[in-house]
Amino acid sequence: MADQPVTILCLASYYKGASFLKAASALGAHVILLTREKNADEPWPRESIDDLLLMPDLHKRPDILYAVSYLMRGRRIDAIVPLDDYDVETAAALREHLRLPGLGETGARYFRDKLAMRTQAAAHGIPVPPFTPVFSYDRLRAYMERTPPPWVLKPRSEAGAMGIKKLHDSEALWRKLDELGDAQSFFHLEQFIPGEIYHVDSLVYEGNVLFAQPHKYARPPMTVAHEGGVFVSRTLPHDGDEARAILDLNERLLGAFALDHGATHAEFIRDHDGQYYFLEVAARVGGADIERLVEAASGLNLWGEWARLEIAYARGEPYEVHPSRHEYAGILVCLARQEWPDMGGYTDPEVVYRVHKKHHAGLVVASADAGRIEALLSQYVERFAADFLAVLPPLDKAPT
Ligand SMILES: Nc1ncnc2c1ncn2[C@@H]1O[C@H](COP(=O)(O)OP(=O)(O)O)[C@@H](O)[C@H]1O
Ligand SMILES: [Mg+2]
Repeated sequence: MADQPVTILCLASYYKGASFLKAASALGAHVILLTREKNADEPWPRESIDDLLLMPDLHKRPDILYAVSYLMRGRRIDAIVPLDDYDVETAAALREHLRLPGLGETGARYFRDKLAMRTQAAAHGIPVPPFTPVFSYDRLRAYMERTPPPWVLKPRSEAGAMGIKKLHDSEALWRKLDELGDAQSFFHLEQFIPGEIYHVDSLVYEGNVLFAQPHKYARPPMTVAHEGGVFVSRTLPHDGDEARAILDLNERLLGAFALDHGATHAEFIRDHDGQYYFLEVAARVGGADIERLVEAASGLNLWGEWARLEIAYARGEPYEVHPSRHEYAGILVCLARQEWPDMGGYTDPEVVYRVHKKHHAGLVVASADAGRIEALLSQYVERFAADFLAVLPPLDKAPT
C-alpha cells in the first residue's frame, strides 16, 4: 500500500478544478477524471490525468453506481472528490456504496441542501434567517403570519443565486407554488435579510479548521446575478471586528456540520443592526475565481491544498498548511460585451491575475496595503463598467 500511488477519482459535471488535477498528479497520485461527454473537449490538463472517462450524465442512478463499481473491479480507488458543487451528492452516494471515507449522504446534505443547512445550523445555535420548509401549508401560513416579508423562495440545491425569488406577500407565494407544482418541496422559504455578504474560504483536516480567509463582497451576489454589474470581493483584515465575527461563526459552523477534511466556502450576512447570520456553505473551493483571490493574498492555492490534504488523508499522514504571506487581495469579474476583452490597459503593478474566459473580464489585485486594494477596486469597477460590462437575464437553473 505504502509504495502504491494514491488513486483519486474526480467527478466533474462541469469544467472545474483543473488546479486540483494538476496538483494531485504533481504529488504522485493516480488521477482518474470522470466527466460528462459534452465536456470532453474542455481544456482539461490532459498531462495530469491518467484516465479520462466519459458518461452522458453523472447523476443518473443506478448508472453511476454501476460504472464506478465496474471501474473498481480492476483498480483500487482511495478517494472520490467532486470538482463541481453539483457532484457533491453523487460523490457521497458513491462513497457510501463503496464504503470509502469522506462525506457520506447525510453529511453531504449539510453542504448542498439549503434546508438541511438551516435546520442543522439552527439546532447548533448558529443564527440563521427565520425559515420554513415548503411541506405543510399550515406551517407555511403560520410562518408568514409571524415573519414580516420580504421573503425569498429558494431552490434547496442550486447555486449562483439561480432560481431565487424575492416575494412581498403571501399571494405571491401561493401563485409561485402553483407554478412549481411537484417541484415545490425542493424549495424553502426564508426571510430576506438586507445587509452585507461575506465569505470565508477554509481548509479542514481531522475536524480542525487549519486555514480560513475572511472576505466581503462589494454587492450582494444576488444583486449581481439578477440585475447585472461587476462582481467584487476582497480580503478583510484578520483582526477587524467583521473578520473576527465571521471566522468565529465559520469555526462553529464547520464543527456543527462535522466535516472531517476538505475545502469549504461559507457565506454570512450582516444586517443593518450588525447581527450576523449564516447564509450557506459548500464542501468545495469557491467558484468565480475565488481560488485566485485567496492565492493572491496568502500564497495558497486552495484546490492544490485540497489535493494535498486528500492524499495525506489516504496515506494516513498528518497535513499542515503554511500560508507564505498575509496580504490583501481583491477580485473583479463581469460579463463582457467583447468575446475576448482586452485588459491590457490595466497596468498597475498590483494586477497579479487576469481571467481568461470567453465574454468575461476579470482581474485580481494584491498588495500589503488594504487601503490600496480598496482604492484600486473602486477605480476599476468604474472602468470595467465603461470598458466591458454586459448584462444578460439571469438563469433559473444551471444549463444542462
Ligand atoms: N435570506 C436572505 N437574505 C438576503 N439575501 C439573501 C438571502 N438568501 C439569499 N440571498 C441572496 O442571494 C444570494 C445567493 O444565495 P445563496 O444562499 O448564497 O445561494 P447560492 O447557492 O445561489 O449562492 C446571496 O449571496 C444573497 O445575495
Ligand atoms: Mg452563495
